[in-house]
Amino acid sequence: MRKKTQLIHGGITGDEKTGAVSVPIYQVSTYKQEGVGRHKGYEYSRTGNPTRFALEELIKDLEGGHAGFAFGSGMAAVTAVLMTFNQGDHIIFTDDVYGGTYRLVSKVINRFGLDATFVDTSDVKNIEAALTEKTKAVYVETPTNPLLKITDMKKVSELAKRNNLKFIVDNTFSTPYWQNPINFGADLVLHSATKYLGGHSDVVAGLVVVNSEELADEVHFVLNSSGGVLGPHDSWLLMRGIKTLGVRMEEIESNTKEFVEFLQGLPEVTNIYYPGLDAHKGRIVHEQQAGGNGGMISFDVGSGERADQVLRNVKYFTLAESLGAVESLISVPAMMTHASIPADRRAELGITDGLVRVSIGLEDIEDLKEDFLQALRK
Ligand SMILES: Cc1ncc(COP(=O)(O)O)c(C=O)c1O
Repeated sequence: MRKKTQLIHGGITGDEKTGAVSVPIYQVSTYKQEGVGRHKGYEYSRTGNPTRFALEELIKDLEGGHAGFAFGSGMAAVTAVLMTFNQGDHIIFTDDVYGGTYRLVSKVINRFGLDATFVDTSDVKNIEAALTEKTKAVYVETPTNPLLKITDMKKVSELAKRNNLKFIVDNTFSTPYWQNPINFGADLVLHSATKYLGGHSDVVAGLVVVNSEELADEVHFVLNSSGGVLGPHDSWLLMRGIKTLGVRMEEIESNTKEFVEFLQGLPEVTNIYYPGLDAHKGRIVHEQQAGGNGGMISFDVGSGERADQVLRNVKYFTLAESLGAVESLISVPAMMTHASIPADRRAELGITDGLVRVSIGLEDIEDLKEDFLQALRK
């Protein structure tokens, strides 16, 4: 089954009993048992819910994994994956990982004795240099947020296998439409489904896909024990969003390419980060592991003041955190999504005050170009 078909026909579709073509919303917390332990596969909705299960089957199919799990947010999904490790374990992370993940790892999970090192995973030698005898996993984002750095998943998975490590990939930016990390050796794939998968800025959700029965048991055990599950209504909304992922990603791809070309013609704009550019360091690796470049672009407008001016004057770009929506979004990572990263660390990473990040949506590209230009030159 090809991707666009799988988006519509993957997982569990419809309802056999009534013929409804959409999975029903099972708004229920518990299930009648015919005798103790004699039930129809569901006991309690934290453990499992049929609407959530249909979504979990769908993301499992889309990522080509063994099992899927749905959480109440991307961060709940990240937390659950990290909770499958033990006190004293060490994990190596991509250095410009999503700010919330950095905060979770460095301010919450560290309290329970999980150690972390942040390195530029776009060079696999940095991962090798950070290995200790306690290292149990490598966790990457590719492309990263907001600098769109690329990590070679095949190389990392080879290193992970040699050293008996789990390989975890946050696939939020590329989505399973463009990139399937399990095909490149990942053991666990994560999503903030709040972004492209939901696609309409109306659901907060997280998804995990694992590549083995053993990992499925571990993640389900944490999900059921810690309880950060996605509700049935949000599970349904997410499935509805996913049906149009293909057409949205194709349209976003062409809009984004055009917007990058437009930015290249503006003297005020420097340092354009977009994996489709010839000058992008990771372009060739990205091309080998992903079918498209996605809708994220970061670029420098020179100063925090000019970034602020753009943000205050755009009309069709919505100033908001998040990304991957039908509406184009704009943000300044240093002040917003990455504000939880200390200023000296931001400087080290290249997240300058004038760095603007846009998530291109589905508006007419000519309107987006005109809007950005008037805001930049106001
Ligand atoms: C790459 C990435 N991972 C994880 C998250 C966290 O997801 P959520 O906001 O759904 O909790 C985000 C949120 O922006 C993200 O961009």
